[in-house]
Amino acid sequence: MKESGIGTDPIGQNLIKSIGNVCFSAFVFSVLIFTVIAITYQPPDPWLQSAPALTRLFTETRNATFHSDNSVLNTGEDLPLPTEMFSSAASPLASEMPVTETSIEIVERRIGNSTGKDGVGCDEMADGQVNCSDPRVLVAVEKFNLHSFKAIVFFEYQAPIAGSRPDECDVAWRFRNKKEKSWRKYRDFRRFRFSVNDDCVYEVLHSDGWHSGINARRPRSRPSSPKGSGPKFIPFVRDEEINDTIPSLGSMSNFRKGRYLYYSRGGDYCKGMNHYMWSFLCGLGEAMYLNRTFVMDLSMCLAATYNPSNRDEEGKDFRYYFDFEHLKEVVSLVEEGEFHRDWKRWDKTHKRKVPVRKVVTHRVTPMQLKKDKSTIIWRQFDAPEPENYWYRVCEGQAAKYIQRPWHALWKSKRLMNIVSEISGKMDWDFDAVHVVRGEKAQNKQLWPNLDADTSPDALLSKLKGMIIPSRNLYVATNEPFYNYFDKLRSLYKVHLLEDYKESWGNTSEWYNETMALNKGWPVEFDGYMKVIVDTEVLYRAKTRVETFNNLTKDCKDGIGTC
Ligand SMILES: *[C@@H]1O[C@H](CO)[C@@H](O)[C@H](O)[C@H]1NC(C)=O
Ligand SMILES: *[C@@H]1O[C@H](CO)[C@@H](O)[C@H](O)[C@H]1NC(C)=O
Ligand SMILES: *[C@@H]1O[C@H](CO)[C@@H](O)[C@H](O)[C@H]1NC(C)=O
Ligand SMILES: *[C@@H]1O[C@H](CO)[C@@H](O)[C@H](O)[C@H]1NC(C)=O
Ligand SMILES: *[C@@H]1O[C@H](CO)[C@@H](O)[C@H](O)[C@H]1NC(C)=O
Ligand SMILES: *[C@@H]1O[C@H](CO)[C@@H](O)[C@H](O)[C@H]1NC(C)=O
Ligand SMILES: *[C@@H]1O[C@H](CO)[C@@H](O)[C@H](O)[C@H]1NC(C)=O
Ligand SMILES: *[C@@H]1O[C@H](CO)[C@@H](O)[C@H](O)[C@H]1NC(C)=O
Repeated sequence: MKESGIGTDPIGQNLIKSIGNVCFSAFVFSVLIFTVIAITYQPPDPWLQSAPALTRLFTETRNATFHSDNSVLNTGEDLPLPTEMFSSAASPLASEMPVTETSIEIVERRIGNSTGKDGVGCDEMADGQVNCSDPRVLVAVEKFNLHSFKAIVFFEYQAPIAGSRPDECDVAWRFRNKKEKSWRKYRDFRRFRFSVNDDCVYEVLHSDGWHSGINARRPRSRPSSPKGSGPKFIPFVRDEEINDTIPSLGSMSNFRKGRYLYYSRGGDYCKGMNHYMWSFLCGLGEAMYLNRTFVMDLSMCLAATYNPSNRDEEGKDFRYYFDFEHLKEVVSLVEEGEFHRDWKRWDKTHKRKVPVRKVVTHRVTPMQLKKDKSTIIWRQFDAPEPENYWYRVCEGQAAKYIQRPWHALWKSKRLMNIVSEISGKMDWDFDAVHVVRGEKAQNKQLWPNLDADTSPDALLSKLKGMIIPSRNLYVATNEPFYNYFDKLRSLYKVHLLEDYKESWGNTSEWYNETMALNKGWPVEFDGYMKVIVDTEVLYRAKTRVETFNNLTKDCKDGIGTC
């Protein structure tokens, strides 16, 4: 039973599996009746938009429990969240000011805008020389950016630095796409060429692309260097804002004072990512409900469908996919290894062992554990599938009390840097189409038209009516064949994730940084990372065409579900 019933198994399952699947669906359905009835209030949740949607999700697609859409992945930063989430202690949002028309005007007024006022001449421009330290240069860049990149909010410009020619300056800043709901910021640095008019007003003549201002790429941690020293060339710049080190518990007495909720590994291990999130957030939700620290295993198992090797792969670090830094800021957790070490050490050095309450079935509800004073509540999941899924804890009555903390789960900043790079290289001026193919296109029973509606010819004729010719068109897809979209190239500038391989190749920042998480071994850019990047690039498009609704009349979750 271990392998059956879950995930997106390749075609050609054996009979036993199919039977298992059918039984399992029937079972899930019965469980769901309870869940659906029990749900009264839920915070924004990518799956639980409505109870009927949930029922459909689990029942209509019989071959997999978590058949929601595995070609996109929604996490906390994609959801509209109540504003109070943003003003939580972890968010520095309130303290930072974006650069706006108004803020630029204030600066302009302060520095004066003409020659006479402050005695700074503009004669130097006569020989095509720009003084990059002149504050008006920065003003010109800020205005240019605001005007050119309407999808972006700009923060914290650094002082411009001379480019490679006398009329150029390199400028770095931080930004956020307006479509991103998190408060994270990203870095860009570009090269600008200037002209100056008779009134001594600087104007940007030309700007180079994403990360072109290499003289300004110097990380901001170093305070502005004394003038004249010149920028030093640093071959690799890490994203210094990422600090996802594993926190330690500190002293032994700290350990004993804590209250922990520990879930041992269950049947969720090696299942699909949607299943993982659904289960993990259930555990976290219970810990929050019980006011306990969640004991977290950062080592994940990636299901075969996401692996080029087509085998389940263990030992994947949570931090490859998700933002552990944000997670540890907003919920109380401890890493499993640290926890075990301290627990053992305590039991060895003290007569009285740490009080542990073992819970062997998910039928013991969170509400029943609320009064328990044991230092550790240890939920064990040793029953046969599907009794051993973490998310079972949150079913039934518990669904009324436990809220999954979706706001705590963001995508990895390292992957988001790749998203910024891809959309930045298109100057945030692109449209996108989401083309779902893969298993769904092959399953004619549940999706009778999908394959035909996403054929190259159909795509071309449908997109014609929705996207203006010669635009940048990003194709987010699970279609593995790169040349599948070649027909679209006659009309659009087509961009596929594969075109940006160097963003995770062996000379990339991402490669370097993930290697550091993996004891110095290179990390493979797997199918799940692709899904994450595809999803977020898709969400940054100006016009977005979805497979279901826009390209085909088939329903997202199979025939008769819409
Ligand atoms: C389940 O999948 C198998 C093969 O993948 C297919 O033959 C069968 O029709 C599917 N069943 C349903 C209900 O979709
Ligand atoms: C210079 O600043 C004054 C106000 O201080 C403003 O009226 C004028 O339009 C500005 N000139 C230019 C060229 O921006
Ligand atoms: C450049 O401009 C700054 C600020 O206006 C000024 O202090 C500096 O002397 C100028 N440098 C040159 C070479 O003109
Ligand atoms: C990273 O964060 C931890 C706290 O979680 C802190 O102790 C540590 O000093 C930080 N490291 C850096 C390099 O900022
Ligand atoms: C949660 O636990 C912390 C310490 O473990 C305690 O200070 C706090 O009052 C508790 N909050 C609630 C609502 O029980
Ligand atoms: C990077 O990859 C390329 C091609 O895969 C290979 O030729 C090169 O040696 C690699 N460089 C390093 C530093 O690993
Ligand atoms: C990144 O990779 C380069 C070359 O492969 C190496 O010189 C550098 O030390 C690496 N940096 C980190 C932080 O691993
Ligand atoms: C896609 O379909 C949705 C829903 O029918 C519609 O609101 C949206 O405008 C369509 N998108 C395009 C690009 O036509």
